[in-house]
Amino acid sequence: MTPPLLGFSPETFSRRRETVTEGLRGGALLLPSAPLLHRSRDTEHRYRPDSELFYLTGSTEPGVVALLRDHGEGDRFVLFVPERDPAAELWSGPRMGPQELRERLGADSACPTEELKRRLPELLKGARRLFFRLGMQPVLDVRVVEILKEARRKGARKGEGPRAVVDPGEVLDDLRLRKEPGEVARIRRAADLTVASFREALAEARPGMGEWEVESVLESGFRRAGALGPAFPTIVGSGRNACVLHYSCNGGVLSAGDMVLLDGGAEVDLYSADVTRTFPSEGRFTGPQRDVYQVVLGAHRAALAAIRPGVRMDDVHRHALVELTRGLVNLGVLSGEVDDLVERKAFERYFPHQTSHWLGLDVHDVGDYVVDGASRVLEPGMVLTVEPGLYFAQDPVSEPMAYSGMGVRIEDDVLVTTEGGDNLTRALPVDPGELEGLVAG
Ligand code: GLY
Ligand code: MN
Ligand code: MN
Repeated sequence: MTPPLLGFSPETFSRRRETVTEGLRGGALLLPSAPLLHRSRDTEHRYRPDSELFYLTGSTEPGVVALLRDHGEGDRFVLFVPERDPAAELWSGPRMGPQELRERLGADSACPTEELKRRLPELLKGARRLFFRLGMQPVLDVRVVEILKEARRKGARKGEGPRAVVDPGEVLDDLRLRKEPGEVARIRRAADLTVASFREALAEARPGMGEWEVESVLESGFRRAGALGPAFPTIVGSGRNACVLHYSCNGGVLSAGDMVLLDGGAEVDLYSADVTRTFPSEGRFTGPQRDVYQVVLGAHRAALAAIRPGVRMDDVHRHALVELTRGLVNLGVLSGEVDDLVERKAFERYFPHQTSHWLGLDVHDVGDYVVDGASRVLEPGMVLTVEPGLYFAQDPVSEPMAYSGMGVRIEDDVLVTTEGGDNLTRALPVDPGELEGLVAG
């Protein structure tokens, strides 16, 4: 089981709770642990704590429900925790009971989860609204619906209980979007060991090797360096498999003359990295491969150079789109005026995703990309990926061309600083010549 707090100080969490509790404005926030997920029959997946619960409490235990209250008298931070169970602990190891976890996390009070049904209505009396994510955990949904029904029945006369349910993202996402130094340090570490493991994987890659073997070199690098493992299923797409955006079966074999798209990232103390490199399996790009690669690299460089505070997320994307579109015209894939083609989204068939997403506790981290109808303005402390690509999936009805079956993506992780962008994964080359030098071939 992952230990609580993961090296963050208890003050880090109490400071965050103070900010969030203020944002509840007379309401309450109910946050459960992530569920234990069954893999098949009675076998479970390895436990991954909930990002929001961890962010606010440091809890990494399953079965916990945290309640923050900005209303009424009494405790502000309450925990519901399963009682210790020696029979279960025989299989899954020691757990913290209510009092142990209360002390560890600095909660005002803790009671056994078994008491939630009886105590929660009492604790929510007088809350103006409840911040809770409906539809995730049926047992808790039932409790919340009961409380809302009761509040509707009695509320008009007594003013008791919440009348509205609001997504917790409303009070959490913007805070999580701006990373604190301790969070940046973890993302940096995830980035560093992802880069080191990519070097190992590239040094082993050669024609005849299974995609699964490349995956195993990368992921064993993550684990050997102390990461929890991959932050998402590693993508090793050789040849046309690179055109499947979230390909992850990794069951193909690297063929001579093919490129390989490797997209992976380590998770360190629950924080993620997310890196992609596309390289030739033999260590030499063919002419057409290099041409496509250079277009994506131009887009990658243009997007990276655009990152600085005050710039909108959409501007970064647009820089990539212009370069990709210009490149598609030069390759002879599109014809027309670049601006007009960008406007008409002619690139979409070859670049169907966005250039960036936020990165943090979740690999596709939280934070709205559009605020009040306009693209989000970048601020220091935000972390985003830059990952333009071109994918020439073979379409059975059109004539094949020189680039058919090729897929190229280049992805780095960037911290927005006061001066511009700090590329956290720049130590892994993107220059085609340098990349060739890293591949065993
Ligand atoms: N690895 C998934 C992504 O790049 O978003
Ligand atoms: Mn990726
Ligand atoms: Mn990504």
